Amino acid sequence: MGITKTIEKEIIDYASKKNILLQGKALEALRNASDFKKVLDALEKENVFIVTKEAVEKKSAALEEKPKSGVKLKVVGGKAFVPRAKELSPEIDILKEYDVTDQSCSEGTVSDFLNYFRNKFGLLSEMLRKRHTLRPKPIKRVKGVAKNEGVDLIGMVYRKWVTKNGHIAFQLEDLEDKCIVLALKDDEHMTQLAERIMPDDVLGVKGVKFAEQLVIAREILWPDLPMRQPRGIEKGVSIASISDMHVGSKLFLEKEFYHFLDWINCRIGSRKEREKAGSIKYLMIVGDNVDGIGIYPKQFDELNIRDIREQYEEFSKLIMEIPEYIEVVICPGQHDAVRWADPQPAIPKEFVKELYGMGNVHFVGSPSWLDVEGLKVLLYHGGSLHDLISSVSFLDAAHPEKATIELLRKRDLMPAYGLKQPYVPERKDFMVIKEEPDLFFLGDMHHNSYGSYRGTTVIHNGTWQSRTNYQIKLGHIPTPGIVPIVNLQSRKINETAFMERGA
Ligand SMILES: [Fe+2]
Repeated sequence: MGITKTIEKEIIDYASKKNILLQGKALEALRNASDFKKVLDALEKENVFIVTKEAVEKKSAALEEKPKSGVKLKVVGGKAFVPRAKELSPEIDILKEYDVTDQSCSEGTVSDFLNYFRNKFGLLSEMLRKRHTLRPKPIKRVKGVAKNEGVDLIGMVYRKWVTKNGHIAFQLEDLEDKCIVLALKDDEHMTQLAERIMPDDVLGVKGVKFAEQLVIAREILWPDLPMRQPRGIEKGVSIASISDMHVGSKLFLEKEFYHFLDWINCRIGSRKEREKAGSIKYLMIVGDNVDGIGIYPKQFDELNIRDIREQYEEFSKLIMEIPEYIEVVICPGQHDAVRWADPQPAIPKEFVKELYGMGNVHFVGSPSWLDVEGLKVLLYHGGSLHDLISSVSFLDAAHPEKATIELLRKRDLMPAYGLKQPYVPERKDFMVIKEEPDLFFLGDMHHNSYGSYRGTTVIHNGTWQSRTNYQIKLGHIPTPGIVPIVNLQSRKINETAFMERGA
């Protein structure tokens, strides 16, 4: 049974329990109401047992007059509303050279791995070389430096550990040689910086030679973003984003998602809400579009749709409800029908044929880059964040934007190889953050949060799936049904909630 039919059946059942007769288009009006049960309850209290479309709209509007939460959006009738974005042409370009889709050519051989790490080192060390405060020497020249003399180095971290005296040590390598760098335990600034270090980080170190192949760090530099102010554009349009719909899961919030579809079609909400929805020219959908099959043990019991193709059919039906004047960009996540390992290619056409046929829907890999209205936009589902969060003491899943800022500082979406998140050593590096993004959209953590770092706005999307047993076990509180909208003029983020935060 389709989602629309399911909701309609729910409404009819609820009405018949109350002996309420739905007349004419009352059913459609109830489907558009933010809470059909409340509308029917209120009408029952007034002894109205034959319900018309007009009665539903009137009661719904009266109930919504004083909204208590973002979900209370009233049904709009009467005057036609023309969304601003409908009148404006899109300016969007997919930067295909940064997308692994159709470019994957790794065989997973030792030479692929060697090549991958050399590439990464080359790209990130070049960024570090542009830092004016760093005058790096090749590591092999540390031997020739006198004791207590200053020395700057660039290298990749091979491993990190705490010495028996409590200092943080790490082994730094370049293409020719290696040395040990120490962050002394009494140096608070250095200890804090060293806490951030992950294996495979490419770092700049300003230090002092202490012994043969041993350097005491005085400063640690990551490739980092340059200091920039957030750039705005003249055109009054905005980008909305969603992620982690998990269509096919029993926990998919279909009713709330239909409210979202009504809202983005400017069919519900106050004038202000409709103007906000009507300014959306772009919608980013950042992965885990369906729940998938066999992603985790016993998942089969938690599925409403147990066939991957049917899950994508249902997903496609929902996406086709988005107005055609909105450019929709969709990347995969770990639950989608592509490889688990990063970088992930776009969802293949065979699963989403109808959407591939639409001019306004674009499928990209994760990560991928876009040029939207002259702004650089980065999309990444976010698989590597889990490893980062579990390895660095000051990061946590409730504030994923902080972990994402660490990725920006490292200029690398692959913080460490060999932990939980798998990577394919592609011949070309797709994980290094080669450009300076204006907007960075992510999903995966099921938790809305936002941050700003050196001119980049970080947007972490929530989910359309209620809290899973696994999340309850972890104590993770998702934020379902919340849509962030980024105004491209002001770069401000405004949310519309389709259910209460933390529900
Ligand atoms: Fe997810």
